[in-house]
Amino acid sequence: MTQDRRLVIAIDGPAAAGKGTLARRIAENYGLAFLDTGALYRAVGLAMLRSGLDPDDPEAAARVARGLDLELLEDPELRTLKAGDAASRVARHAGVRAALLEFQRDFARNAPGGAVLDGRDIGTVVLPDADVKLFVTASAQVRAERRYRELKEQGRDVSFEDVLAMVKERDARDAARTEAPMKPAPDAHLLDTSEMDICAAFRAARRIIDAHLAGGTGGRG
Ligand code: DC
Repeated sequence: MTQDRRLVIAIDGPAAAGKGTLARRIAENYGLAFLDTGALYRAVGLAMLRSGLDPDDPEAAARVARGLDLELLEDPELRTLKAGDAASRVARHAGVRAALLEFQRDFARNAPGGAVLDGRDIGTVVLPDADVKLFVTASAQVRAERRYRELKEQGRDVSFEDVLAMVKERDARDAARTEAPMKPAPDAHLLDTSEMDICAAFRAARRIIDAHLAGGTGGRG
């Protein structure tokens, strides 16, 4: 289904909540462009690791973010636990967030029919005026199980305990940072997918978006 007017959708939530899959399906269904903003932070983290730089170093991280090679967004190593950990570290630095902000806003502004962006601060900082905001969560246990299965399917050698520890550590770091911490926007719809498969999550999201398109608020206010 494509739209007559532009539609901008912000999807936020913790690591491995299923927001990436959901965001892709929503983009496809409504004919919108899609940007996985976590990939930008992962690319900065990965570039730093490869150059032997420390992701905890704010100046070096900001420099890498300003000169980010967008080809890295296609790198298969982006999805590893190491790249995710480095991403969550570089994401704490104000200089990194500032360097990536305009790219994200331009993407949403320039996509002809509109766009879906997924991340941690899309509804609160990047696109506070988004038409529809979703905050997608699931329990840490469920998210760790999903991420563990995914990594195993990719043939990666990981233990469930490590994945669960990673999920909890990432939650804590992403939510506790001072710069654009992960949190639902006041007008976000909360979607807890602990008991939902992707089809059920998609149906729930579609009901919210369709209500907005039908002239309801789509948001909460
Ligand atoms: O969604 P992800 O797991 O690919 O994100 C990797 C890290 O990037 C995440 O731990 C925090 C950071 N991130 C962020 O701070 N802001 C965003 N909009 C997206 C990701």
